[in-house]
Amino acid sequence: MDRTAQLTSRSTEFEIAYDPPGSSDSLHVRAARVLEANWTGRATVPSRSLYPHQWSWDSAFIAIGLRHVSPLRAQTELETLLAAQWADGRVPHIVFNPSVPLDAYFPSPDFWRSSTAGHTAGAPRTVQTSGIVQPPVHALAAWLVHHADPETSRSRGFLARVYPRLAAWHRYLLHRRDLGGGGLVSVVHPWEQGMDNSPCWDAPLARITPAPARSFRRADLDHGAAEDRPTDLDYGRYVRLAADYRNAGYADGQGEFAVEDPAFNALLIASEHALARIAEELGATGTARHARAERLTAALVERLWDPAAGMFLCRDLKGGGLIQERGVSGLVPLLLPGLPRDLVGALVRTLRGPHFSLGDRTRLAPSYDLLGEAFDPHRYWRGPAWFNTSWLLERGLRAHGELHLADALRAAVLHLADTTGFAEYVDPYTGEACGATGFGWTAALALDLHHELHQELVKGAREGVSSPATGTFDTSDKGGDRR
Ligand code: SER
Repeated sequence: MDRTAQLTSRSTEFEIAYDPPGSSDSLHVRAARVLEANWTGRATVPSRSLYPHQWSWDSAFIAIGLRHVSPLRAQTELETLLAAQWADGRVPHIVFNPSVPLDAYFPSPDFWRSSTAGHTAGAPRTVQTSGIVQPPVHALAAWLVHHADPETSRSRGFLARVYPRLAAWHRYLLHRRDLGGGGLVSVVHPWEQGMDNSPCWDAPLARITPAPARSFRRADLDHGAAEDRPTDLDYGRYVRLAADYRNAGYADGQGEFAVEDPAFNALLIASEHALARIAEELGATGTARHARAERLTAALVERLWDPAAGMFLCRDLKGGGLIQERGVSGLVPLLLPGLPRDLVGALVRTLRGPHFSLGDRTRLAPSYDLLGEAFDPHRYWRGPAWFNTSWLLERGLRAHGELHLADALRAAVLHLADTTGFAEYVDPYTGEACGATGFGWTAALALDLHHELHQELVKGAREGVSSPATGTFDTSDKGGDRR
């Protein structure tokens, strides 16, 4: 038995049956097949059935995994998205595929009317898009994609081409979306933050008069189980907010919903650090960007940290104050290298404590507080565990030296992604698949972690390290101070 096989033969329930990339039926091959099936020629759809167009933060996560299959396709993925950028710098949350029938997804291009309603804000004329945004994962993705194959990236001038667009995107967020005046970016619609029906939005959404149910027809229920999806009342409010924004010509600062969200801002900070590195790679200085990222981190702590909760919360700019709901978004800042050490310890304790119970009652962090009144293990972002947030938490745990926990979370992601057919999200207790299967970012991020694990195992085998990089949750250790 070779060294790698020895290291991986000790698998337990939480470990994957590890199979190296390239073997004919490895996780790598299965995940790559999903990405191939969802590829349209210029981009990857999140799901052929439920989401048949290009989504902004999906594409960024997809590119991060796709780089291990085809660095060129990963570059194209990001470039296709950025080609639909508006002149004011915003990167739209959906880029519509004109060959998909209008009734396949709601709200369709004739709802958003980007090229007319978005004319003043600089929407492109040749492609139809939505008018809202999604979390800025793109610079981070571009940097990681570059690293997968620097030679091809350099020969195509990939970073040089995407840098000005990414810089304009961040400028839009920092200048047009600091609606609270405290340095952080606000979202103006729950779809912008990406965790659409999180209970964190219940209070700010309660103020919004829903659009009448007869004024629109949902397409998601044709493909997804109603109990896994947001309610009709939620949809009425989503439609009202989006229609109001559209009717105001997508001008910022006028809507009834404005929330500062920890994950959205943490991803901007991580991407600002990535943009600094891209600038350095291009021969410029990244100092000012790194400094801005540090200032943003300080603002995040000042405005959204809640010591009693031991995590970050959302701030409702219209209702005044921190929203007392624990969503997984409030753990995502763990991703940030510059986070104060005591906050890192508190976040890890919260992740392992009764509200998220990682490694004890749950195998992936639930999207919402297990003890919260609104908790529902199946309904979209009101409890189920998602793979993108697990990927972000895994990265954060690893960056802060919580290697054992990071290894165990990675093993759980790989196991659940693979055994659910790359489900969109899962019941956090049972791992049962919810939403769509063959989901783009689930496949891509599993691929990324599989690749990382493979690298570690190969390195460990070469160096004769005996401890396997696959891990299990140690339920006797609920610490958070280990660094
Ligand atoms: N996530 C939303 C949907 O369910 C929109 O981005 O359609």
